[in-house]
Amino acid sequence: MTTTKPILMTRDLLQIVDLSATEIAELFALSARMKSNYADYATALAQRSLAMLFEKPSLRTRVSFELGFQKLGGGVTFLDHQSSPIGGREPVEDYARNLSRWVDVVAIRCQSHQLLQRFAAASSVPVINALSDLHHPCQALADLFTLVETGIPVEQLHLVWVGDGNNVCHSLIETVATIGGRMTVITPPSCKPPIEIMRVADARACRSGARIVCTADLGAVTGADAVYTDVWVSMGEEARATEKIALLTPYRVDGALMKRAGSQARFMHCLPAKRGEEVTAEVIDSPASIVFDQAENRMHVQNALMLALLRPDLARGAIAHPHAALTP
Ligand code: CP
Ligand code: NVA
Repeated sequence: MTTTKPILMTRDLLQIVDLSATEIAELFALSARMKSNYADYATALAQRSLAMLFEKPSLRTRVSFELGFQKLGGGVTFLDHQSSPIGGREPVEDYARNLSRWVDVVAIRCQSHQLLQRFAAASSVPVINALSDLHHPCQALADLFTLVETGIPVEQLHLVWVGDGNNVCHSLIETVATIGGRMTVITPPSCKPPIEIMRVADARACRSGARIVCTADLGAVTGADAVYTDVWVSMGEEARATEKIALLTPYRVDGALMKRAGSQARFMHCLPAKRGEEVTAEVIDSPASIVFDQAENRMHVQNALMLALLRPDLARGAIAHPHAALTP
């Protein structure tokens, strides 16, 4: 039993606003430390277990959580929706109480963010959102960590989102609002992020000095440090595919849009991508694209998060100077 002071005030990570700016800076410092030296952490989570509950398909999230936790010496069990549906054979709360008796942390990918909140409320071990209809916090942490690694100081960063104002977009908005910098969200009016997300972001931005702007004007891409897009039809909204493709076709990220952004602009995507739909192959396969750095960093930031949650004693040494991680 460790008695070290916790690093994170939250027990769960359901959305980015569960974290403060300092906590994100500390997680980035720890991510950088772990990424450069896994040997020091090979047994950090020995005897600890992670359960993963996934209602939806995954490549990056599944592999990065599973192999990441094993890299730290822990054991993992994967529960798919077919064999162990959440809320299928028993109430969500009973599912959470059972798992809490066997494992130390749970990562959940599910459709309903509300279900995730119910699960977390009943769980006595930390719950991590591995994607819900509303948020994808681990993705956004990896993305901002990736941008910090490029050397752009956070307060000068201009991230431009183009396309559907979806779960990944919501988490990026909350991250930039929390740590500072600038984010422009370019979507058709009917695809913009909901008012609840913007309200939370505005409150955070008042403290951090971040500037978050929503517009339908593609001209706002000019000067972006990074242009970010995601699929137009997220998992679970396939019934709206025709409508969304029609609405979003003018918002495809192609060579002309990247040129409008400027030669400094990187291209970002959480993946999986549909070449020819939200992004052209010439853009995603260009030298400006940092999509696989983002994918790699999923593992490092998730490992930092799990170490901070489960072994703050080991995590603390790495984060003596967290702000160094935000201003390289
Ligand atoms: N970016 C991401 O979450 O990928 P997967 O859906 O493959 O996990
Ligand atoms: N917005 C996408 C992200 C996939 C990682 C979805 O929810 O399907």
